[in-house]
Amino acid sequence: MDSNELSLSKVANQHARVLSGMRPTGRLHLGHYHGVLKNWVELQHEYPCFFFIADWHALTTHYDDPSIIPGSVWDMVIDWLAAGVNPNEATLFVQSRVPEHAELHLLLSMITPLGWLERVPSYKDQQEKLKEKDLATYGFLGYPLLQSADIMLYKAGLVPVGEDQVAHVELTREVARRFNHIYGKEADFGDKAETAAKKMGKKNARLYARYRKEWQERGDEEALAAARALLEGQQNITVSDRDRLFGYLEGSGKVILPEPQPLLTRASKMPGLDGQKMSKSYGNTISLRADPDEVSQQMRTMPTDPARVRRNDPGDPSKCPVWQFHEVYSDKQVCDWVQEGCRSASIGCVDCKQPVIDAVVNELQPMRERAAEFESDPDVVRTIINEGCEAAREVAYDTMTEVREVMSLEAIR
Ligand code: TRP
Ligand code: SF4
Repeated sequence: MDSNELSLSKVANQHARVLSGMRPTGRLHLGHYHGVLKNWVELQHEYPCFFFIADWHALTTHYDDPSIIPGSVWDMVIDWLAAGVNPNEATLFVQSRVPEHAELHLLLSMITPLGWLERVPSYKDQQEKLKEKDLATYGFLGYPLLQSADIMLYKAGLVPVGEDQVAHVELTREVARRFNHIYGKEADFGDKAETAAKKMGKKNARLYARYRKEWQERGDEEALAAARALLEGQQNITVSDRDRLFGYLEGSGKVILPEPQPLLTRASKMPGLDGQKMSKSYGNTISLRADPDEVSQQMRTMPTDPARVRRNDPGDPSKCPVWQFHEVYSDKQVCDWVQEGCRSASIGCVDCKQPVIDAVVNELQPMRERAAEFESDPDVVRTIINEGCEAAREVAYDTMTEVREVMSLEAIR
């Protein structure tokens, strides 16, 4: 079982929707490709995926100079498309075009204890790291909760994120639990759930009762999975009844907002040009749209094992950032050639870099071509995003209708 399957088994199929977002703060680079986009491209074949540009999130840290946002939004959409994110398979949209994100954020803020937000590690960390900015703002404190709203608005069960974002998914789970606890309570919940079960027909109701018993009394995971599948297969019950039956199954109240699981991106550490992790803040990146000349130029000036001062000084690949690139790009034969040749000084560093240059150029070539096509046709990009925003709003509308109802906000409609 790989990590994706493992996470999936923990969420009901109904919630196998994937959601992830990225802040628009500049052009994307190879680190984004290997760390995030490649994974998205795989996920879009397996699950309904929602990928969005988190422009409101960018404002939480860039409120004093938002002028980089519009250009970054465009670059980001084009980079996603260039990397193979497919608008026919995934829904691509911009956060600020779906105002329901703000509405849900506001409503969740009513039930979220301040301490939960103050304890999120990124709150203090980022304030330390970005000392030149005043991040003692309401928006910055609340940004992990905005992220929770992003996730729950689509009832996403799976959230592909890096290690640094796991705490935010964890917060989302806590908020979801609290929400369901407060608003999923109904005076006669048990009776309502029993009535709902009967609406599935005698046979299904009996099955459901048996699975529920096996899960609750013996912790039988298979029974839980079978019961969920049974509920998912029901065409004739209402959303409310389904929420009840899911909650009744698990021993809670109605499950209005399901708890998501983080989907940890398989650790692919894309090295930067200096051997540290590739990141804009280290200035060691290769742009996704770099042309062959730029790539060779950047790689040729890469530092190597300092012991290799002259061509016939032997070196040690483990002390060389170029080797880390071979680990990403080269097959065993080339890797052996590097190991042997470096240690015996039978190859020079220029020779050693060539296969990596070729591999990076080859990898980027189709992306550069696709990016150029989209750049020359902004109307196509606009249409993709407009359609994505519309599709996202439909899902958001349904969730908010339920949320407003349980929060007593549907008095006059
Ligand atoms: N906070 C994330 C980041 O900085 C971006 C993000 C915003 C996100 N909303 C999200 C990621 C929802 C996953 C799900 O990278
Ligand atoms: Fe690095 Fe290759 Fe030069 Fe060895 S030969 S120091 S691995 S670039």
